[in-house]
Amino acid sequence: MRIVLRIGGSVVASPVNTDLMSKYAEMVQTLKGQGHEVAVVVGGGALAREFIGIAKKLGLAEQAQDEVAISVSRLFAQLFLETLGGMGCGKVALSLDDAADFLSTGKIMVMGGLKPGITTDAVAALVAESVNADLLVKGTDQDGVYNKDPRKHADAVKLDHLSFDDLGKVFSENKHKAGIHQIIDPEAIKIMKRERMKLIVVNGFKPENILAAVNGESVGTVVN
Ligand code: UTP
Repeated sequence: MRIVLRIGGSVVASPVNTDLMSKYAEMVQTLKGQGHEVAVVVGGGALAREFIGIAKKLGLAEQAQDEVAISVSRLFAQLFLETLGGMGCGKVALSLDDAADFLSTGKIMVMGGLKPGITTDAVAALVAESVNADLLVKGTDQDGVYNKDPRKHADAVKLDHLSFDDLGKVFSENKHKAGIHQIIDPEAIKIMKRERMKLIVVNGFKPENILAAVNGESVGTVVN
């Protein structure tokens, strides 16, 4: 399978968790060993948000705020790439063309942000679209998608399976509740829906969940 893995900055980078990054490196090497093609998109996490705050204080425009956040995500992407050693694609991909080219060399492709105005969720969806990926897996800080924000509602129920339309509904019903949006960016959902992709959202603090998701085991939330 051709897999795009989106590692949340909230998982490996807020605070930076080097043990977890090493585990992710082992895990994607395992996926590669199983014969899969793997593209990894890394987020910028708390450090990216800190830089956005600094840029704001300097009075910089939103685009410049995004640009520094993108640089931070690329820095984490570089660290992750170095951790992969010879199995990595050598350089952090900076464009969708890079992503496709690097993946075609048979190495593990790694990238961070792409352009202002989006998040790395949308980057992962764009990469998945451009390389025709079979599956997009997002490792996040929750066990999957819930019917409402689990951090605010004790009675929130995790959904095992839903359609992109249902996912859209979960978002619209929770439009004004921050947090729910962090599960997956609505912009990314639009792209995935258009491309009829399969998305699995899992708890990223356990990288073995990603392997389980790829191997078809029931874990997290499947969206298609
Ligand atoms: P990230 O997508 O890096 O966040 O976007 P994250 O930390 O991994 O998020 P979680 O873990 O899912 O919660 C952080 C910010 O960086 C800018 C945006 O401002 C975004 O909100 N960004 C990132 C871009 O502008 N373009 C990109 O391609 C990526």
